[in-house]
Amino acid sequence: MTFSSLSHVKLDYPWTAAPLIVSAPMLNIATANLAAAVSLAGGLGFIAGGYDLSHLEKELVDARRLINEVTFKTSYRQQNPPQESPVLPVGVGFLNWGASLETALPLIKTYRPCAIWLFAPKTGADDLLPWVQRIRSESPYNVKIWVQLCCVVDAMECVQKLQPDVLVVQGCDAGGHGYARSASVITLLPEIVDQLDLSRPHKLHRPSIVAAGGIVDGRGVAAAVTLGADGCAMGTRFLASPEAQISKGYQKEILRASDGGVSTVRSTVYDKVRGIYGWPGRFDGRGLINRSYEDILNKVVTEDENRHLYEREKLKGDHGWGSQGRMTTYAGTGVGLIREVLPAGQIVTKTRQDAMKPLQQPSFTARL
Ligand SMILES: Cc1cc2nc3c(=O)[nH]c(=O)nc-3n(C[C@H](O)[C@H](O)[C@H](O)COP(=O)(O)O)c2cc1C
Repeated sequence: MTFSSLSHVKLDYPWTAAPLIVSAPMLNIATANLAAAVSLAGGLGFIAGGYDLSHLEKELVDARRLINEVTFKTSYRQQNPPQESPVLPVGVGFLNWGASLETALPLIKTYRPCAIWLFAPKTGADDLLPWVQRIRSESPYNVKIWVQLCCVVDAMECVQKLQPDVLVVQGCDAGGHGYARSASVITLLPEIVDQLDLSRPHKLHRPSIVAAGGIVDGRGVAAAVTLGADGCAMGTRFLASPEAQISKGYQKEILRASDGGVSTVRSTVYDKVRGIYGWPGRFDGRGLINRSYEDILNKVVTEDENRHLYEREKLKGDHGWGSQGRMTTYAGTGVGLIREVLPAGQIVTKTRQDAMKPLQQPSFTARL
């Protein structure tokens, strides 16, 4: 199977190998270090711009430096000398309910990230229209637009109104934020693929598809490709990498936790304890269950008390994490499959190699 024949991915991101492995933009965690390491390993790394873009320029400067330092020595840069390849081979993710387009645009024009990832507009695709139109018309290079979404209706509306280059289809197993009511990738992705195929006679634009949510290893990637994805975005897996900007207490929990369907929960509690109220109503976030959640569930504390206790917990440093701790520990249901911290580049190459095994080996068909 050749994946490049399935989509424009290889043409649009020439340093990548198929199937495409993407590190998701994770607020406060996916900095230049993680994004550059992923792209340098033949994946595509996203810096998290989030909703407050005050740190974004520093991250873009760092990403440019990291890429330039290393790629001069690699075949990618030899084949694509700087003057012919001014595009930064990392992307930037925005949380559109809060991010300012006026702040983002000059940064995009100056640093030329290869892809812009849009997620969580206040209402729907119409909110993203000014972003897509202005980024496309004002960026002096071929920037790609990615939109992450969590249901079939949004996917079709997004394709009709925005013609994105990539749809990131996020299923309910995902760590961090997503729709409170959503399906797993295993049903969501093929339904979107079917709807896109059905609408083809009406000449609806066909974006590439990247699957997200619960994918943490090669088996998950192989499954997503079988369902129709051109690549996969992983968040939780990269939390267990040295390049992730994450405290030791958080990372230890990612390695410790198992049985993600039981040990994690979707909730708005983890926003409330941190005083974050901007997320649109249909969103919540998946994280490991801890005292912040249990105490609200069991009505042991009020929301105010919970928030106060969270502030006190912060003073405990790494000891504030854990099932008896209170620190927010966003993670997807795949958390139980993550058993070691690996360099982000190794996660990319190993995941890709492991994905190819079931897809290519005759033993795969022999089992059927
Ligand atoms: C800690 C954490 C933070 C996240 N922050 C963001 C974010 O800032 N922007 C965004 O678009 N998605 C964010 N996500 C969701 C990811 O884009 C992606 O959908 C998710 O990680 C995929 O599921 P997985 O965690 O099971 O791999 C975050 C996910 C995690 C785990």
